[in-house]
Amino acid sequence: MFLTLDDFDFEGKRVVLRVDINCPINPENGEILDDKRIREVKKTINELSNSGARVVILAHQSRPGKKDFAPLEEHAKKLSEILHKEVKYLDEIFSKRVINEIKNMEDGDIILLENIRFYSEEVLKDWKKWEKITPKKQAETLLIKRLAPLFDYFVNDAFAAAHRAQPSLVGFSYYMPMIAGRLMEKEVNVLSKVVENPDSPAVYVLGGAKADDSIKVMKNVLDRVDYILTGGIVANIFLIAKGYNLGKNLEIIKNLGYESLIEEAKNLLEKYEEKIYTPVDVALNINGERVEKKLNGDVEELINDIGEETIKIYSEIIKKAKTIVANGPMGVFELENFAIGTIKILDAIAHSKGFKVIGGGHIAAATELFGYADKIDHISTGGGATLSFLSGEKLPVIEMLKESYSKFKHP
Ligand code: 3PG
Repeated sequence: MFLTLDDFDFEGKRVVLRVDINCPINPENGEILDDKRIREVKKTINELSNSGARVVILAHQSRPGKKDFAPLEEHAKKLSEILHKEVKYLDEIFSKRVINEIKNMEDGDIILLENIRFYSEEVLKDWKKWEKITPKKQAETLLIKRLAPLFDYFVNDAFAAAHRAQPSLVGFSYYMPMIAGRLMEKEVNVLSKVVENPDSPAVYVLGGAKADDSIKVMKNVLDRVDYILTGGIVANIFLIAKGYNLGKNLEIIKNLGYESLIEEAKNLLEKYEEKIYTPVDVALNINGERVEKKLNGDVEELINDIGEETIKIYSEIIKKAKTIVANGPMGVFELENFAIGTIKILDAIAHSKGFKVIGGGHIAAATELFGYADKIDHISTGGGATLSFLSGEKLPVIEMLKESYSKFKHP
């Protein structure tokens, strides 16, 4: 349970709103290449501003040291465009000028401050370290101590960063109610439903290259779902666990540091063999050409996609499903010859009558790219956050939202 925008009257109140509008950008000029995350926070900002709140937005773009670590000027322009309202961009975080600007805001005004990760307290060197630091300590950072006295409420709509325990994501909750924004609410409700109580038959399509994440997800949901359909590196790990000799593909698994997952896959197969599906045929990459091969012996060449027969089997299962969650592509869809598996499985998902959820950055991009986005019930805005959620991990932001509910819920 957490507090939502329905629980408070925001008229005339100052609200600090944390969003995740970390977008793919052109590192040369800051141009935003995909504005999905910005469009997704529109509802919360509009609702706050229209109800008379004075809204100050905090956000990050990338991380220090990365090419796309950039100021938020373009994000502010894009936000203004999407909201049809002025979003004032201030290229600082808590200077005297910023504090004065915030004090002088009028009802409905919106300000976006500079990339919060420009400030050192937000980005400790050891990325995981914040998780061990108590919220009280986070509340004592200069960042929070300077900004918190200016605000009445903290709204957190940054689902995609909910797995991070950084000051701007959780620190304000020590001083004021921490309230879920509309996107946060939707993400948590939808993902909780498909993880904890999916309508049966429930199918999880687990593919892509991040096999460690997929196996964590699998372990978390296997008792509650009916089918796991594997693709990508995940499928290769399970095929090796079943005894197939996959040549070069094993080398890739070793290079990715996933060799130990083969043993885990064996254990999972022992207990859940009838639920975990692996490809019966694959598409090999032979000098860039797609060569389909039935899996009835050793494979030496690179597997870059699932084969036609597997597509048929998987599509039939998807067609009858009441819940479908997909977290990764079936193959290397960036290469035209190996996009077929991903496209056809997305097509089957799009045409199924079940409740359809896409989670994970790479498959979300494929869903947009191949034109299926409007046929999916929910495309999660999270990458790592969504995978952590589907894996059953505790996310610091969601934990703090629950804590704030117990602390501030009106009697
Ligand atoms: C993301 O893009 O997954 C989020 O914005 C979190 O980014 P981070 O992994 O740099 O914390």
